[in-house]
Amino acid sequence: MEQITESRARLAGAHLEEHRRMERDLHDGAQQRLLAIALQLRSARVNGGDTVLRAEVDQAITDLALTVQELRDLASGLQPAALAGGGLRAATDELASRIPVRMKLDVVDRRFPASVESAAWFVIAEAVSNVVKHACVDEVAIRVSAGPSEVHVAVLDAGVGGVDPQGRGLQGLADRIAALGGALSAGDQPGGGTRVEAVLPCA
Ligand SMILES: Nc1ncnc2c1ncn2[C@@H]1O[C@H](COP(=O)(O)OP(=O)(O)OP(=O)(O)O)[C@@H](O)[C@H]1O
Ligand SMILES: [Mg+2]
Repeated sequence: MEQITESRARLAGAHLEEHRRMERDLHDGAQQRLLAIALQLRSARVNGGDTVLRAEVDQAITDLALTVQELRDLASGLQPAALAGGGLRAATDELASRIPVRMKLDVVDRRFPASVESAAWFVIAEAVSNVVKHACVDEVAIRVSAGPSEVHVAVLDAGVGGVDPQGRGLQGLADRIAALGGALSAGDQPGGGTRVEAVLPCA
């Protein structure tokens, strides 16, 4: 109970609408920053002596690093257009075409409430990116099925195993899922490899 309250508190800002607003803000932030850097560099090139130029370039390098980080955070939170357009089946089909491992898909072709599809997507995106980064395999299996009042999501690989469920990515995901009344579990598979599973309530 205490854990649920804690994870809810950690998630104080994670409501979907708020999330969208944050994405927009970040987007505007990064765009503005890049424009500002370009202007600064241009003006330094026209007006500045060597010292000024050097200082401006140093400043630009720092600003660019910040912007890259901002965009990276933004990208990891973004949902693909295919998700809103065609649901989890379409979004996972599209994901399969742009990641460097084979995907074995068993994804129910059905639409769920946007909040459920969005949460399921976060599970898939994080677990698949973990497989690409950590598992040392060339194949990942994704299963999505609908129960009477819940959706099951599983991401499985036969890689090196040794997942840490307390890691920043997986803990954040667990918080997000818990806030929706669902549950996330991650662990080694009996025959080797990793299993990440989520149950999401779906009225
Ligand atoms: N599919 C996997 N196979 C092997 N190890 C894994 C797998 N998924 C996660 N791990 C291990 O569990 C750790 C925790 O994962 P988690 O997603 O929380 O963090 P991360 O991927 O390292 O960082 P972040 O998600 O914040 O970018 C990873 O650092 C990695 O060592
Ligand atoms: Mg991760």
